[in-house]
Amino acid sequence: MRKRQFIKQITLGTMLVPFAGGINHAKALKPKSYTLPDSSLPDDEFWEEIRKLYLLKPDYINLENGYYCFLPQTTLQAYIENVNRVNEQGSFYFRTQMDADRQTARQVLADFVRCPVEEVILTRNTTESMAIVIQGLDWKPGDEAVMAHQDYGTMLDMFAQQAKRYGIVNKWVNIPNHPQSDEEIVALYEQAITPKTKLLMVCHIINITGQILPVRKICEMAHRYGVKVVVDGAHAVAHFDFDLKALQCDFYACSLHKWLSVPLGAGLLYVQRDNIPSLWPLMPLSGFADDDIRKLAHRGTAPVHVDMTLAQAIAFQQYLGIARKEARLRFLQQYWTAQVRNIEGIVLNTPAQAERACAIANVHIPKFKPAELQKILLEQYRIWTVAIDRVGVQGCRITPQVYTTLAELDQLVAALIALAK
Ligand SMILES: Cc1ncc(COP(=O)(O)O)c(C=O)c1O
Repeated sequence: MRKRQFIKQITLGTMLVPFAGGINHAKALKPKSYTLPDSSLPDDEFWEEIRKLYLLKPDYINLENGYYCFLPQTTLQAYIENVNRVNEQGSFYFRTQMDADRQTARQVLADFVRCPVEEVILTRNTTESMAIVIQGLDWKPGDEAVMAHQDYGTMLDMFAQQAKRYGIVNKWVNIPNHPQSDEEIVALYEQAITPKTKLLMVCHIINITGQILPVRKICEMAHRYGVKVVVDGAHAVAHFDFDLKALQCDFYACSLHKWLSVPLGAGLLYVQRDNIPSLWPLMPLSGFADDDIRKLAHRGTAPVHVDMTLAQAIAFQQYLGIARKEARLRFLQQYWTAQVRNIEGIVLNTPAQAERACAIANVHIPKFKPAELQKILLEQYRIWTVAIDRVGVQGCRITPQVYTTLAELDQLVAALIALAK
């Protein structure tokens, strides 16, 4: 057997115990010592060892990693050290070191997403990044914006507020759960554009179904009409491999506490350089030129230990390898969806074509309301998911992570088949 470089003692208690009607929120799991497994291990062994870097509650199988992806212990330990550093130094850190650390973190992030640093800032999450764009543009009465019913609710609310405040007109498209082609989706957005359209919002991945949209083709089409595109990429960075610049969007927003597993409260905003002067900061800060993206990055006193841990989180992703991670996540999703896709009484709201989804998928059993299905999965099968009940999308969202095992997904499949009968 191959000699392993990891420490043997890190066997964590991941055996499931019966769901006793409640989850012990007060009892913290005890971390041990961790080193990274040898990345040249064959895939099955490698992912088994990666699982041991995560402290997993034995009370339930966590298939709700779409909310955020909690940290492997290696990143968590770096984070705790950074919390201690800041706490020891107090304002001395903020006054003498914070700006330099933040610039380093920004550069590391820009390199990771392969964008010029002059077009990237750190924010606290996708919501903030999207607000900087949606609320930072100069809207005039009658200006139009295009979006989808399947977009994230908060972003739709932001546009609704701009409609009330400035008299803009919002137009919605309806994305099919099972599109025949990219062109079908591009045509939907194109039909909503008029000479008054100023901005088009599109998700890179629809969070409720896991569908990946043809963003580059949508940008090319929108630009032919002079329409700017803001991409809600909350779930995309470090989930699957893509070249952000090659998407040709004007603005791109992402939450780094999702698939990059940065501690909570980390986001990215990319603004293609020609668009920087047209944005008003949410929190103005004098001292930066109109075309300097840093004018958008002010946020007051903030949890700087999150930024300080960004490089560690990126190093962990690079160690996993984005191609290997993407392949694993897609494999996990297809492993369970393939087993239930053609079963009577089960509906999948996620496309079957491999390139149209990655880790996230949505499953519906029409005889149950989504909230009922979520409850039954937790209480009878100890499987933690989230119910989605939106126009055209009803079901539970299922999101495995790199630590998810096939045995866990087998339990999901068995539960779905039993419930559909
Ligand atoms: C598509 C999409 N956009 C935006 C967000 C908001 O992310 P955050 O709460 O990190 O700002 C989410 C969160 O799940 C999302 O799924």
